[in-house]
Amino acid sequence: MGILDGKVAIVTGAGRGIGRGEAMLLAAEGAKVVVNDLGADVTGAGGDKSPAQKSVDDIIANGGEAIINADDISSWQGAKNVIDEAISTWGKLDIVVNNAGILRDKMSFNIDESDWDDVIRVHLKGHFAMARHAAAYWRERSKAGEEVKAAIVNTSSESGIYGNPGQANYSAAKAGIASLTWVMARELQRYGVRVNAIAPRARTRMTENLFGSFSDPGEGKFDAYDPLNVAPMVAFLASDLASDISGQIFVVYGGEITVMQGFTPAGELKKDARWTPSELAEHKAELFANHPSVLPGMPGF
Ligand SMILES: NC(=O)c1ccc[n+]([C@@H]2O[C@H](COP(=O)([O-])OP(=O)(O)OC[C@H]3O[C@@H](n4cnc5c(N)ncnc54)[C@H](O)[C@@H]3O)[C@@H](O)[C@H]2O)c1
Repeated sequence: MGILDGKVAIVTGAGRGIGRGEAMLLAAEGAKVVVNDLGADVTGAGGDKSPAQKSVDDIIANGGEAIINADDISSWQGAKNVIDEAISTWGKLDIVVNNAGILRDKMSFNIDESDWDDVIRVHLKGHFAMARHAAAYWRERSKAGEEVKAAIVNTSSESGIYGNPGQANYSAAKAGIASLTWVMARELQRYGVRVNAIAPRARTRMTENLFGSFSDPGEGKFDAYDPLNVAPMVAFLASDLASDISGQIFVVYGGEITVMQGFTPAGELKKDARWTPSELAEHKAELFANHPSVLPGMPGF
């Protein structure tokens, strides 16, 4: 018995890295899984079905059920094809894990138009396109009188939450995904759909330069950067055991789960009249009194 018995799930970008671990665990917990991955390189170029096929083969070898899908989730029709394939294969859809992504890291002053467009397209549009087509399906089921118990798990990033230099395109997309999570959680609650996001930290080809060198935990020790550490939280959020959790963002890393709180007021100035610029300058210390600094020599933002 698994916590996802009887569920039908899609995991995008499930040919490798974090998505592969998610697809494997969802299947081990009983879900039938569409393993979507077009097999691009880390910048989004090329296509190779073999990583996705390997995930499917490994799920089946472990006694699970899975099919491969190689559509591009960043195209409106590609995303619809993935949703349609799950429904036409297994008769329904319960879970969408939006995970597929690419990187084009550059400082803002060096970013080309295509670096901007492609990263926003794959992450932000890709997440939305999948969620949009799934939402239309669930809303229709709900209006037809079915009790829908569905879940979307998005993939944001600490880069988006905090703002990482060298990743203007990626951080903006990931912050957009956090906001999208809140909007869709509010919109879809009445139809039985929960929407949460994770901000993972793990060693994959995307981050091997960051986490690779200090990731070896030594013989028999817990590897905090193993991408498989991310999957349990995603399986839990996808399951009915999390039926009272929606609109949340979790940093997931090693054995640590942190629930984040969105934008919250950190200080205010108030009077029953319009401020002048000079008055604002006089009162700035009051405004930032309880706000930690992010940039050296500057109050927080
Ligand atoms: N690794 C980390 O520490 C980390 C941190 C924060 C966020 N993330 C996010 O986690 C997700 C997974 O990243 P990863 O580290 O496993 O990277 P990865 O490169 O190992 O895997 C990403 C997968 O997405 C697939 N993909 C790319 N574009 C696609 C498209 N248009 N359609 C379908 N598939 C597509 C790729 O082929 C690849 O297999 C990404 O959204 C990434 O931004 C990762």
